[in-house]
Amino acid sequence: MITPLVITTAAKLTPTLEHIASEMSAQLDAPLISRMGRSLPDIFEVTGAERLLVVGSDHLRLYDRTTGAEYFYHPNMFLSRGSVVLSGGSDHFLSAVDLNPGDRLLDCTLGFASESALASLALDGTGKVVGLESEPVLAAITRRGLQTFILRSAPLTAALRRIEVVTADYRTYLKNCESHAFDVVYFDPFFDERLSGSEASVSPLFVFGNPAPLSPEAVDEARRVARRCVVIKHPGSTELPGPITEWVTKTQGGRKSRVIYSVIEN
Ligand SMILES: C[S@@+](CC[C@H](N)C(=O)[O-])C[C@H]1O[C@@H](n2cnc3c(N)ncnc32)[C@H](O)[C@@H]1O
Repeated sequence: MITPLVITTAAKLTPTLEHIASEMSAQLDAPLISRMGRSLPDIFEVTGAERLLVVGSDHLRLYDRTTGAEYFYHPNMFLSRGSVVLSGGSDHFLSAVDLNPGDRLLDCTLGFASESALASLALDGTGKVVGLESEPVLAAITRRGLQTFILRSAPLTAALRRIEVVTADYRTYLKNCESHAFDVVYFDPFFDERLSGSEASVSPLFVFGNPAPLSPEAVDEARRVARRCVVIKHPGSTELPGPITEWVTKTQGGRKSRVIYSVIEN
């Protein structure tokens, strides 16, 4: 039988690491393997695991045996985009979601939470940002990163801390939400066309993330859950599937933008 995921610790074991590792093992229902001085390739070999989560003093790091890809939490684009917003600049995502104090935003595709963090920054401690991630190990890594990563700027760090991470598939979660439970529902799903440049910072997500395409049914459910609007991020050159395009009432990002935020207003 193939073991999908095993958990181990960094080489230098401390009681804190041991504690976090056993918490992760219980949370993710994955075996905890003592490191005992072994290299990561050795642990892959001995356990036959496909993925290895290493609990270290600063990060949780996830490794994929086949591709060699590595995933750990980092605020990524939030560092630059958050700083621009703090200094009074604009951001296409924030213009698209157009939050008011006290609003509730549901981010259906959390990933590294860069855009959830921008929303949290804009709300400045009012309202709520809830982020859904369907892949339990990614949700665990991002949840811990958001609670522990320290940026130079106190308001940026505080914005990370206020995000609530929920391990859930948006297709199930949205069905169980009451109508108008959130003001804004946001999607940043994978599209066939991969973005280059700064967007490539999400690249490990292509290995570890849920590749399921966005469906009109899910967006329709989101329209019921959103009081004000649903916002979808997509490559500028990609059409949204099926009837979704007809529901779009406005877009944010110029015609030549690599990224467009399509807004479906209620
Ligand atoms: C393109 S990334 C989002 C990047 C994110 N906006 C950021 O700022 O880092 C898409 C993420 O959504 C997750 N995802 C895809 N389908 C999902 C679903 N049905 N429910 C919840 N999460 C999903 C993927 O696992 C991946 O982490």
